[in-house]
Amino acid sequence: MEDTEDNELLRQYHELAELAGSLAHEIKNPLSVIHMNVDLLSEELGDFEWPGRRRAEAKVDMIRHQCQRMENLLRDFMRFSRMQNLEMTPGDLNEQVDSVLRFYQAQADKQDIEVVRYLDTNLPSIMLHSDSLQAALINLVKNAFEAMDSGGQFIVRTYTTPRGVALDFIDTGCGMDDGTAIHMFDPFYSTKNDGSGLGLPTARKIIEAHGGRINVQSEVGRGTKFLLEFPTPARLG
Ligand SMILES: Nc1ncnc2c1ncn2[C@@H]1O[C@H](COP(=O)(O)OP(=O)(O)OP(=O)(O)O)[C@@H](O)[C@H]1O
Ligand SMILES: [Mg+2]
Repeated sequence: MEDTEDNELLRQYHELAELAGSLAHEIKNPLSVIHMNVDLLSEELGDFEWPGRRRAEAKVDMIRHQCQRMENLLRDFMRFSRMQNLEMTPGDLNEQVDSVLRFYQAQADKQDIEVVRYLDTNLPSIMLHSDSLQAALINLVKNAFEAMDSGGQFIVRTYTTPRGVALDFIDTGCGMDDGTAIHMFDPFYSTKNDGSGLGLPTARKIIEAHGGRINVQSEVGRGTKFLLEFPTPARLG
């Protein structure tokens, strides 16, 4: 009995997920037409002076800004709903981490964040999908940096565990209260003004698609630690 109910729920879930995915896709095209036209409109506004031009420009800018927000939201949502059947190849977790940190070094300097690396050079390979895994790591680094408004330390560790390889991201940022910690993986849950709330659920989905798991410890005012663990091939399946 319970089993049939679970199957029915699962079927409804997949149906809804598919619907939401196509809805996002359908919104994307008209939105990009609106965005393109508002860009053109803004160019046309620039050609001559007329009363009320400033106000018109402010409105056009607001439309452009909101278009960009919706486009980002749709991109994140589509990435979130598409996450299955990734083609995995053997790879080095350190390389993935390195490439993400390189991408964020300028931002770290700007925000006065010290990035400290303890990368185990003898790490065994894992099965990974590079683009997706980097997207997951980027979401976590972005969150950590956003939590360290007035600078801090970001510690990155990789090491071998009995089950595979692990990665710690430790920040000395604002931390999370219990209410946030309970909901942080809920799609669309965000405590930020312009957050989509899809960063963490997407990261978790990607990590789980790698056979991995993600754990969090956080303390308000002290910081947050995300622990990721991935199985090595011998332990996969
Ligand atoms: N390292 C962190 N330190 C403190 N709070 C965090 C951290 N990571 C996540 N959070 C909390 O979890 C919430 C959800 O994170 P998530 O990445 O899913 O969305 P977001 O960051 O708000 O939006 P987006 O990722 O689209 O920018 C955040 O709004 C924040 O409150
Ligand atoms: Mg985020």
